[in-house]
Amino acid sequence: MSVCVKKYLLNSGFYMPAVGLGTWQGQVGSTAATEMRDTIIYALQKGYRHIDTAAVYGVEEIVGEAIRMSGVPRSEIFLVTKLHSAHHARVEEAFLESMKRLNCEYIDLYLMHWPQALTHDGKPTKTPTPPETWLSMEALKKKYPDLVRSLGVSNFSEKTMDELLKVATIVPATNQVEVHPMLPQHDLVKYMNEKGIITTCYSPLGQYVPAILKNPRVLELAEKYNVTAAQVVLAWEVSRDLVVIPKSTNRERIMQNITYPELAPEDIAFFNDFYKPPGMHRRLCQINGGTPTGHDIVMGWTYEELGWEPFTVEE
Ligand code: A2P
Repeated sequence: MSVCVKKYLLNSGFYMPAVGLGTWQGQVGSTAATEMRDTIIYALQKGYRHIDTAAVYGVEEIVGEAIRMSGVPRSEIFLVTKLHSAHHARVEEAFLESMKRLNCEYIDLYLMHWPQALTHDGKPTKTPTPPETWLSMEALKKKYPDLVRSLGVSNFSEKTMDELLKVATIVPATNQVEVHPMLPQHDLVKYMNEKGIITTCYSPLGQYVPAILKNPRVLELAEKYNVTAAQVVLAWEVSRDLVVIPKSTNRERIMQNITYPELAPEDIAFFNDFYKPPGMHRRLCQINGGTPTGHDIVMGWTYEELGWEPFTVEE
């Protein structure tokens, strides 16, 4: 098996590699951060060409440093960062701050990290609305076309995307959302495909929950293809023409996460239906501290306002 080199043509005219390295771990100055820099350098040297970060992760300096130290030409790397929710009212300044921290010539894809805005001290606020923030991002792209190549969003549903598309003159190139076997997002992916928007899966391994990677059938498939459970899960996601951005600081797992077998149709079908048994349809990541109930408030918004589907399948 060789390194996955699949790419997708975005509606902005640029290509995006199907596999990226997630960087949501460690803070600048910590051991984890130094480890992450070495991890990114290693990943780039081994064939990764897409790095996903965000202002809120607090690691943009490290990501930029790693890219510069890797020896891989900047032009070969697809770099994604995200607008912090507390900066929706100051998009241009926030973008230029990210540019400065990354120090990497340009940003390939700039995402609105969440539809919800927060005040500068982190409190939920209803303004700007997501469409208003999107228009500021469009203005940014028009002002700095060479510094930001593509625009996109993250954590958008059909509902919030519909509202955004009513005002947009640029259709988002991608929507980055939680996707894994317990939250396959079939309807959302179909909707985004119809709009020409590529879906990126965050937490594509479901944050390594035993329910997925230790599932007996998943382990059987891993054995069948002579790979690990994580590899069959990621292979399923890439087979759906999705982008995946698994995080790992372990070198062996970094290599696993970019090399996949081609799955047989029946094995793809197994993963497509994985969420169907009772209790198997779950959002894993959005709720800070506690079990999701479907009525939670996420950064000031209800599930209904977010347009998020309930996570338990009605039988
Ligand atoms: P580690 O850094 O020790 O490899 P996700 O990207 O889905 O949110 O999951 C990230 C988590 O999954 C991290 O804790 C990471 O731990 C673990 N992980 C990443 N790749 C693999 C893999 N190939 N097999 C098992 N666990 C993995």
